[in-house]
Amino acid sequence: MIPEPLKTELQSSIAHAVTRREAAVGVMKRLQSHYGWMTDEAVTEAAELLGLSPLQVEELATFYEMIYRRPVGPKVIHVCDSISCWSMGGETLLQQLEHHLEISAGGTTGDGAVTLLPCSCLGNCGNAPAIMIGEQLHGPITVQQALDLVGRR
Ligand code: FES
Repeated sequence: MIPEPLKTELQSSIAHAVTRREAAVGVMKRLQSHYGWMTDEAVTEAAELLGLSPLQVEELATFYEMIYRRPVGPKVIHVCDSISCWSMGGETLLQQLEHHLEISAGGTTGDGAVTLLPCSCLGNCGNAPAIMIGEQLHGPITVQQALDLVGRR
């Protein structure tokens, strides 16, 4: 259940948006931050707040890579797998992270702390290979630097 202060904040952001769909990503991100991921409950709550159907919210949630429809760790490493990063070693970086974290891409470490997700272009192509942790972009980055950022070296 959404705490009242968060509900008020979200209602205000929706009221200031040009369209409800425009507000949807921000609402989902705030609910995701509150719950840790975009739970079914969060989808329903977002739909009620936005005046959309749960299916419409679901469609938006599954479209955006930064909205998680399943549990993730508190630290999520997004590894870009688009062309510039791929050509600069992004694929190797992802494989090295899989090896060091002992998980496959898409997975979460056994302690639940770190999730590793491939993603499309992060808009940081000039600094390939690029990753994003939280809202922070990093690149060009080595596997050791990435592991340092999530406390796994
Ligand atoms: S191709 Fe990786 S950030 Fe653009």
